[in-house]
Amino acid sequence: MIKVAPSVLAADFSILKEELVSLEKAGADYIHLDIMDGNFVPNISFGAPVIKELRKCSKLVFDVHLMVEMPERYIEDFVNAGADIITVHVESTKHLDRTIELIKSYGIKAGVTLNPATPVESLKYIINKVDMVLVMSVNPGFGGQSFIEYSLDKIKEIKNMRPDVDIEVDGGITDITAKRVIEAGANVLVAGSYVFNGDYKEKIDSLRGGK
Ligand code: DX5
Ligand code: ZN
Repeated sequence: MIKVAPSVLAADFSILKEELVSLEKAGADYIHLDIMDGNFVPNISFGAPVIKELRKCSKLVFDVHLMVEMPERYIEDFVNAGADIITVHVESTKHLDRTIELIKSYGIKAGVTLNPATPVESLKYIINKVDMVLVMSVNPGFGGQSFIEYSLDKIKEIKNMRPDVDIEVDGGITDITAKRVIEAGANVLVAGSYVFNGDYKEKIDSLRGGK
């Protein structure tokens, strides 16, 4: 089953609640929430208080992608705000195992995120502890960038390493790249600019292959 996770980074921030309601009606599975601290990545987005407000008006799975230094400092805040899944970048924490265990200790799903140039080998000792691996197919920090081709090889390698782990792909996903990442083994698709430039339902359906 392919899950579609629209990234609200491309939404109209002045009407975020309405955007979430529209996405739910349009068939989104998850809502992908990009948290940027202006340090781990060059951009700043929004934090836990915004998620807490959105939680009141949506039953969708909240997929929180932390692009912050030392994410262990904020796990509790995001859990309390209503996160269902939290993913952290390999390079963002000195103690990846401890951070993954911390996320899991709250009874929610934990994921690990790889930047484009981060090798799949870095998952060797952690892959059996996570629910999801997030493969960045652009350099994190901004929406609307082009898909990096070698991400396909990484998805295949992760699929071989642990066939039952959820593999999420983030960056440059369109109907065309979606088909390719699904073939490579991905089952959760993040899409920002593609979904928000047009009819949400048509766009979401097209990511699943037009069904
Ligand atoms: C980038 C973010 C993405 C971004 C994707 O740092 O992690 O989730 O919103 O945007 P698109 O789909 O436009 O590449
Ligand atoms: Zn993201």
